[in-house]
Amino acid sequence: MHPGSAIGIFGGGQLGRMLAVAARVMGYRTISLGPAVDCPASQVTDFHIAAAYDDLGAAEELAERSDVVTYEFENVDAAAIERIAELKPVFPSPSVLRVCQDREIEKSTMRELGIGVPEFRVVRSVREAVEAVGEIGAPVVMKTTRWGYDGKGQSVVRDDGEAASAFDGLGGTEDAPVIVEGFVDFEMEVSVVCARNLDGEMRTFPVSENVHVEGILDTSIVPARCSDEMKAEAERVAMRIAEGLDVVGLIAVEMFVTRDGEVLVNELAPRPHNSGHYTIEGCETSQFEQLARIMLGMPMGDVGLRSPTVMVNLLGDVWEATDGSPDWAAVLGIERAHLHLYGKSGYRVGRKMGHITITGETAEEALAVAVAAREAAACA
Ligand SMILES: Nc1ncnc2c1ncn2[C@@H]1O[C@H](COP(=O)(O)OP(=O)(O)O)[C@@H](O)[C@H]1O
Ligand SMILES: [Mg+2]
Repeated sequence: MHPGSAIGIFGGGQLGRMLAVAARVMGYRTISLGPAVDCPASQVTDFHIAAAYDDLGAAEELAERSDVVTYEFENVDAAAIERIAELKPVFPSPSVLRVCQDREIEKSTMRELGIGVPEFRVVRSVREAVEAVGEIGAPVVMKTTRWGYDGKGQSVVRDDGEAASAFDGLGGTEDAPVIVEGFVDFEMEVSVVCARNLDGEMRTFPVSENVHVEGILDTSIVPARCSDEMKAEAERVAMRIAEGLDVVGLIAVEMFVTRDGEVLVNELAPRPHNSGHYTIEGCETSQFEQLARIMLGMPMGDVGLRSPTVMVNLLGDVWEATDGSPDWAAVLGIERAHLHLYGKSGYRVGRKMGHITITGETAEEALAVAVAAREAAACA
């Protein structure tokens, strides 16, 4: 499809915003759909449909106005996406979305593909929860099978006695099962964004080392500070998943690297990923541009790293610390600091509001500068 074609984006958040920016640079049009009139995506797309995510009429309108459609978050009722897929091509396909929406399906699919995951049980009652914690052995992490994000919908159980209250606390029932997962004493967390096109050709962006704080991504460091063998293994796992699920578009794979050098898959996202934001300045082609190229049937771009790059997230905490006015001049006064703000109207502790990317000579140097840049923003 040629410039002038329209990419439909189901979702109004920052991933949609950054996809729209990348598509617009290449001369494509973008249409977004999300509940708010003013949202990160609507500020840059050519047209925005302000409607609830379960509004099938609005979903149809998005399909009618677009040549090809994607979704920018997966915590959405799949019915609307399936309706769109009846009208226009949707990438990745709704079947990929269904796997990634449900931790039970996701983990069993990994097992079928022969890919390592943390030890887990799916439980549907307090009795099963207590049994599973006994079998796996505390500490464990309990997670709702659906609707979790940024560490929400999970709790760490450090003692057998907490199993029942944790299950209840997560709203576990027969119909709302909970995953009980062994707590992985990992060496590091890494992720790989794998791009795959309609011909099955694949390209993996450089492995990112990720640090989470309270379940929310805090920092991505590239190149990841692990062995080349570990990186190759992480990329191999991501490609196996992309192929196994027949992904057309992007799939982000979050992984734990254990202290014995094993790679275990934590979770999947069928879309651009926070840990891939570094690609905007760090790689020859960003994850967003790559998705646009694939959706439009164009050749994929080079995923090579231009230089070591570190990304730090800006959560609402930075606004909270400065009564709503972080010191952006201090950030922009730092050479090689790239500021991204998502245009969200209200800040809240833990809410993703933007990020800072630093390119450097080495990952260590970029990391030190990135941390200093964020601290500078938060100094009232
Ligand atoms: N089994 C586990 N062992 C150790 N840490 C975990 C485990 N599961 C999750 N975590 C920590 O919590 C973070 C968020 O969990 P994740 O399952 O990725 O949920 P979310 O959908 O909220 O990102 C992970 O990146 C990791 O730091
Ligand atoms: Mg995660």
